[in-house]
Amino acid sequence: MTDAINRTVSPQKSPAETGELEIRPRTLEEVIGQDQVRSNLKILIGAAKKRGEAMDHVLFYGPPGLGKTTLAHVLANEMGVNIKVTSGPAIERAGDLAAILSNLRAGDILFIDEIHRLGRAVEEILYPAMEDFALDIVIGKGPAARSIRLSLPRFTVIGATTRLALVTAPLRARFGALYRLDFYDLSAMRKIIDRGAGVLGVAAEEDGIQEIATRARGTPRVALRLLRRVRDFAQVRADGRITGQVTRQALDLLNVDPSGLDDVDRKVLSTIIEKYNGGPVGLNTIAASISEEPDTIMDVVEPYLLQLGFLDRTPQGRIATARAYHHLGLPYTAKTQPTLFEE
Ligand SMILES: Nc1ncnc2c1ncn2[C@@H]1O[C@H](COP(=O)(O)OP(=O)(O)OP(=O)(O)O)[C@@H](O)[C@H]1O
Ligand SMILES: [Mg+2]
Repeated sequence: MTDAINRTVSPQKSPAETGELEIRPRTLEEVIGQDQVRSNLKILIGAAKKRGEAMDHVLFYGPPGLGKTTLAHVLANEMGVNIKVTSGPAIERAGDLAAILSNLRAGDILFIDEIHRLGRAVEEILYPAMEDFALDIVIGKGPAARSIRLSLPRFTVIGATTRLALVTAPLRARFGALYRLDFYDLSAMRKIIDRGAGVLGVAAEEDGIQEIATRARGTPRVALRLLRRVRDFAQVRADGRITGQVTRQALDLLNVDPSGLDDVDRKVLSTIIEKYNGGPVGLNTIAASISEEPDTIMDVVEPYLLQLGFLDRTPQGRIATARAYHHLGLPYTAKTQPTLFEE
């Protein structure tokens, strides 16, 4: 099985990645791109400060590596409050969440990553906490059990998810603000890489920055990882400067192609084309043919292929587009394609 998490272009965080802290923007002003989200957050913060209250609950969604965690920390910093970081799978029992909630102070932020993976029983505790700032605890067992309600200070939940569709409707309804993070455009990517090079103290030429930007899948985390790999290559094989040529050589060696695709992406496309005649073919079938997790393909591979227009989603399954054939250097053979719809 290919280890999708260890891909150089994986937008997911690898445990070995250090130095994130220095590179992370601290203030909204330092956050690059996502202009609309940023403007909205400015208003949210301004309003909360003016009223002297905790910020509204915020839900960020979008593909991994685009800055959901970063924005949560920036919000805490801008509001001047504490942030407690946890995640859906980390909160196993209702009691775990009750313990976290009862330790929050007024204004604090509770960041829940992968919020779509919260258990049912845990969610039930979260509803009244978010809505009424109340914690319902059951005391005793059996017929003698009774429930008491404790009040909580006003706090803010920031949720993050890569799968908005898996966030239950009642949970979603409790967020006052919902923001979608999109892939970054080239100019924002260049700025992020330029800033990253500055933080890492490495000399990077315009050309090199551009080359990394085009291969980084519109994803800051990928960009910063590629930057580190190119820096290593430049130090070992050249004079340490990140030039266009050095960058191209380094990224070719990593099998990251000029569109930012790696082996896993190309395997997904070539499987659809060669095994299934261009599609339509179901996601699970694709995943099984290349021994990969359907979730990985859905969260990590597919969004970028859709964005590039290499893949289409239809009611019958995934289809490789003419562009995908072209990119792989294959003759375009598919017949007329069925009508598309948005999932
Ligand atoms: N707008 C931005 N400007 C500059 N750097 C950014 C920006 N957004 C993200 N980064 C950098 O990209 C990296 C990944 O960001 P972050 O951890 O916030 O992603 P994420 O969306 O939370 O991903 P995941 O969904 O995997 O948790 C961080 O090192 C961060 O510094
Ligand atoms: Mg994160």
